[in-house]
Amino acid sequence: MVSVATSADLSVNVGALRLTNPIIAASGTFGYGLEFSHLVDLNRLGGIVVKGLSIEPMEGAPAPRLCETAGGMLNAVGLQNVGVRAFVAEILPKLRAYHTAVVANVFGKTVQEYVRVIEVLEGADGLTAYELNISCPNVGKGGVQFGSDPGLAAEVVGTVKRVSRRPLWVKLSPNVTDIGAIARAVEGAGADVLTVANTYMGMSVDPQTRKSRLGNLTGGLSGPAIRPITVRLVYEVCQAVKIPVIGLGGIETAENVAEYLVVGAAAVQVGTASFVDPRATERLVGGLEKWCVDENIFSMSELRGSLGK
Ligand SMILES: Cc1cc2nc3c(=O)[nH]c(=O)nc-3n(C[C@H](O)[C@H](O)[C@H](O)COP(=O)(O)O)c2cc1C
Repeated sequence: MVSVATSADLSVNVGALRLTNPIIAASGTFGYGLEFSHLVDLNRLGGIVVKGLSIEPMEGAPAPRLCETAGGMLNAVGLQNVGVRAFVAEILPKLRAYHTAVVANVFGKTVQEYVRVIEVLEGADGLTAYELNISCPNVGKGGVQFGSDPGLAAEVVGTVKRVSRRPLWVKLSPNVTDIGAIARAVEGAGADVLTVANTYMGMSVDPQTRKSRLGNLTGGLSGPAIRPITVRLVYEVCQAVKIPVIGLGGIETAENVAEYLVVGAAAVQVGTASFVDPRATERLVGGLEKWCVDENIFSMSELRGSLGK
């Protein structure tokens, strides 16, 4: 007898973690989660990655910070954030009311700054994992500098790993020649999960004013325009390492989610889609369940790494 799916089990394992579904809000596009709580049922999401946290508050880059492009957008926010101590004191206690995985995205200008942010977070309850941003293209120091060199990437990950009791996700930069080499270096240094990927460095100029459309001159490209390039990177990283990979870049539909799972991702994150439709993350959870029923898929393991030759 042929079984027909009437519902699908969307739960996934990401390393040691079990998430109720593979849809996670991406860092920098969902505030600290609370800003979306009147629009999105946060309990329905697989997880939330909060805006990048630094040891001291950061003002970020000069305006304009966003500019729409064909099939996507450029941003240069420059990691504006309240600082890790204010996050722990004022925001995290409110996030604890929700039953979703909360992941702290962490940024430092030096290895020591990454360690100091983690040390503050280690003293707090209510976090599921850390995501190290070694790939921000919009800051002068740190960020992509660490993510572009296998040795530096391994140094920051190895040092942070020694002071962290929570799973360590590491967010890679797509602005590299050999992402497999960086992925292997970071895996060797103790990363538990890889997030692939951050934005692509880009630039847009108004030829009439002769000025950049961004206050920071250059920015990071995100949205559907980057999806095929990032799907390929996720595929490549999944081939290069044994640890789980979370895929993100341009996801707008349930089918896009499935595409990332098929090339090997354990879960996905959703970023720019929340700018187009603030309810995109929750909509994708429902959409994925429906898509699975329509395709007669019972569980996410049927999709993960199922790429045909
Ligand atoms: C406005 C904006 C702010 C972002 N801020 C961060 C950040 O603080 N930390 C980080 O790791 N990634 C940040 N990102 C990158 C996203 O999390 C994501 O990797 C990227 O946008 C690709 O996914 P998407 O095409 O679904 O947006 C930001 C992206 C955007 C558009």
